[in-house]
Amino acid sequence: MTGEPKPIVLDVDTGVDDACALLLAATHPALDLRAVTCVGGNAPVDDVVRNTLSVLETVGRTDVPVSRGAARPLLEHPHDARHVHGDDGMGDLGWRRPTVQPDTRHAVELLRDVCLAAAASGEHVTVVPTAPMTNIALLLRTYPDVARGIAEIVFMGGAAQVGNATASAEFNVFHDPEAAAIALDAAAELSIPVTMYGLDVFYDPVVSREQAAELVAVGGGTGAELAGRLIQFQCDRFGRDAATIGDAGAVCAVIDPDALTTQVLPIRVELAGHWSRGRTIVDRRDWSGDLSHDPHGEPPVRVRVALGVDHDRYVDLWRESILRQAGAR
Ligand code: RIB
Ligand code: CA
Repeated sequence: MTGEPKPIVLDVDTGVDDACALLLAATHPALDLRAVTCVGGNAPVDDVVRNTLSVLETVGRTDVPVSRGAARPLLEHPHDARHVHGDDGMGDLGWRRPTVQPDTRHAVELLRDVCLAAAASGEHVTVVPTAPMTNIALLLRTYPDVARGIAEIVFMGGAAQVGNATASAEFNVFHDPEAAAIALDAAAELSIPVTMYGLDVFYDPVVSREQAAELVAVGGGTGAELAGRLIQFQCDRFGRDAATIGDAGAVCAVIDPDALTTQVLPIRVELAGHWSRGRTIVDRRDWSGDLSHDPHGEPPVRVRVALGVDHDRYVDLWRESILRQAGAR
């Protein structure tokens, strides 16, 4: 780690893998977690708030303010993912409930306050959405001056290739396509750099059942035990011997961006297609003739798209931070 810890905020829909992301963001010494905001997505927003507070309390980070945000997408009807994440949204582990309350501010106000405070002290916050981008779209359109305090947006969402929620679309973008389109358009307008940690890399950093068992064996209701049980839940749910750290990869990308293979590419979010609504259309054409004769013209938005990842490096980053915080390293 070089220099001062990097200020970050997470916007989450906790979520089994959002919990994995929170465990890393709250424990790694290279990061200064300033706030976490919650949005409906994997689970209803009140469950997301409860789960988020529970994870942060597990690793002793009740100092981090947590706020409730949008309960539903801007236009789309909510489609939760409890078939993936369990009825409680966090693997139905029966993990202890939080003893602390959320911040009374709305998520958008908390994000605004954190970003403007950073700007006032000459700092810049990295914003890490790992959920539908409803809160982020509302923030950037309502308080565009927050851009002064934002270094970059590193979001988990979208894909250059395949989908998961549908054949075309990744869940976070599919859940609120308008929000994703608005957030990306606003970031471009406000000159906020954006990195897309999408499905092209999302599934690659995986933890084995054996590694999960090592984490669970730490016990004591620690973050390590929780991390291991989250991985075990996913292995059982999908009938696999390993499971992705999912959203935690986007946090890894903030700590160790060099482990990603990326390209800055034009991108559009499909809003109108019946079968393709919510697809992130990443333009990988490399012949100028195609681009100059495109009837649609060039998209206004270009983001740094993660196309490859040194997945073992991210798994080690995630495991070691969580084990160290639990006193097992
Ligand atoms: O498509 C994966 C994304 O959808 C992850 O953020 C996961 O938590 C779900 O929200
Ligand atoms: Ca998520």
